[in-house]
Amino acid sequence: MSSTRKQRKVTVQTFINKKAKGEKITVLTAYDAFIAGLLDKAEIDSILVGDSASNVLHGFDTTIPITMDIMVAHTAAVARGASRALIIADMPFLSFQPSVETAILNAGRFLKEGNAEAVKLEGGIEMVPTIRRIVECGIPVMGHIGLTPQSIHRFGGPKVQGRQEKSRAYLKESALALEEAGCFSCVLELLENDIATEITESLHTMATIGIGAGVNCDGQVLVINDMLGLRPEGFKPKFLREYANLTPIIVEAIGKYIDDVLNGRFPAEDESY
Ligand code: KIV
Repeated sequence: MSSTRKQRKVTVQTFINKKAKGEKITVLTAYDAFIAGLLDKAEIDSILVGDSASNVLHGFDTTIPITMDIMVAHTAAVARGASRALIIADMPFLSFQPSVETAILNAGRFLKEGNAEAVKLEGGIEMVPTIRRIVECGIPVMGHIGLTPQSIHRFGGPKVQGRQEKSRAYLKESALALEEAGCFSCVLELLENDIATEITESLHTMATIGIGAGVNCDGQVLVINDMLGLRPEGFKPKFLREYANLTPIIVEAIGKYIDDVLNGRFPAEDESY
């Protein structure tokens, strides 16, 4: 990697330029400063401080319980750890749905207190008035359509979207409306490959970032814990590729530590004062 490339700050304009040039966009989640620093070092384009923190860090079954205060704290930590990647904060459940004013104030908190550079919010065409106003306030917005986990109880589980004509029409209409409202990018989650392709090709400035939405999206996102193998046993959706399996490595290291302490091998002489 050239040093010029290393120093170039990723902005929302980078997303738009990459889409125009047909260059893929890379996104991963992070929730703390250390991992954010590693992602920056590896030159990821963008870090999404996802409300998946609710599941993967806080142990909840859904993303519903996580609060604004917790999400702002995670965002601020990530922003302290990364300087190159574009930092996008995920707006938690009920931080933007109740009213446009609530949405603007909470989106603004992510920039003012969390040092985020953009926010993401779930929902299709019905969110257009809210998105339009947030964008008008100078806050870049990433949309999120398909399976939107904050509405998991309405979907009745993590079901692939775009299988029925009604759902396909809603997704296509929503994508165009979100682009028109000013979103610089949009997550497509758990979508049939053909509809994700059709949506991606129909858009001019809004980059699609897929998770379980096939290879033709403008970019891809995964939850960092999942792709590093730091996930509960049995959780292995088809779209998830594990790039490392850290769970057994961590368990083995902890086991060795326990063994060493129990047997008086830790700390050694040169680890003592
Ligand atoms: O919260 C999250 O991590 C997300 C990604 C899965 C897109 O929304």
